[in-house]
Amino acid sequence: MKKDLISIKDLSAEEIEGIFALTDELKKDKSKYAESLKGKTLALIFQKPSNRTRVSFAVGMFQLGGLGIYLAPDEINLGVRETIQDVARTLSRYVDGIVLRTFEHRNVEELAKYASIPVINGLSDLSHPCQGLADLYTIREKLGSFKGLTLAYVGDGNNVTHSLLYGCSRAGLNITIATPEKFEPDAGVVKQAKAFASLSGAKIQLCYKASEACKNADVIYTDVWTSMGREKEAAKRRKIFRSFQVNKKLLSLAKKHCLIMHCLPAHRGEEITDEAIDSQNSVVFDQAENRLHVQKAILIKLLKNT
Ligand code: CP
Ligand code: NVA
Repeated sequence: MKKDLISIKDLSAEEIEGIFALTDELKKDKSKYAESLKGKTLALIFQKPSNRTRVSFAVGMFQLGGLGIYLAPDEINLGVRETIQDVARTLSRYVDGIVLRTFEHRNVEELAKYASIPVINGLSDLSHPCQGLADLYTIREKLGSFKGLTLAYVGDGNNVTHSLLYGCSRAGLNITIATPEKFEPDAGVVKQAKAFASLSGAKIQLCYKASEACKNADVIYTDVWTSMGREKEAAKRRKIFRSFQVNKKLLSLAKKHCLIMHCLPAHRGEEITDEAIDSQNSVVFDQAENRLHVQKAILIKLLKNT
């Protein structure tokens, strides 16, 4: 049966570790996997802009011997030019996998339901699993393990927060989330993550003060205050989120080795200062690079035997 990557919640701790073990191999010896996906093709349907996701998937397919085909918002025009079901059925006759970046999460679910090939969520309003996996891999690479460590997420409780919640709770990494009131992560996601955490031993905490979350943190993570599609709220959000900026002062509360992470794109001077993102603690570009390596592992796992 085909397998999709819609959400980290669908992956067991063992499956996550399996992806990371293969990523280690891919980083070590690129040539060994150069023909892994020879002759395979991947459609990249994007309804929102992208740098990292688009480029890393296209380059990843090329490095594995396959081909990525980018489809801009106006081309497929998902659900407008034709139904999601018909897009799924048609592309299943041409290509071996689909990456979809979209607005409503149910679009990814519907595409996966009607496609006979693997579907990968390249970001929806609810989650960003490829990002969450690359983030966990980066932490594992830099700090050696997850057990007993705490990630402080500061800012908007959004799609990236949700994937971190699922990822941390599955992997056993403690996560403390500081958001303004009314910008908390989705209650259903928190509930599910708490259930996973009870198995992995991770601690999940929510609070309303950035300084509280960052005290003794091993990782400080932030994302834009205004996600794609919410641009009209940007001015209002800039005011509400002012005290959630990741800066040197916040970093001084964390452990000395604390990693600064951001999924990028960053709005420098808003959710993060130049000083923080360019500091020695920052691993944001290693994190961006790891999108490529981790996604190559995901592509091999999902497409190799199809
Ligand atoms: N982090 C991330 O997904 O970046 P892009 O929006 O540029 O793809
Ligand atoms: N939360 C951001 C992530 C961008 C990679 C957004 O959805 O725009």
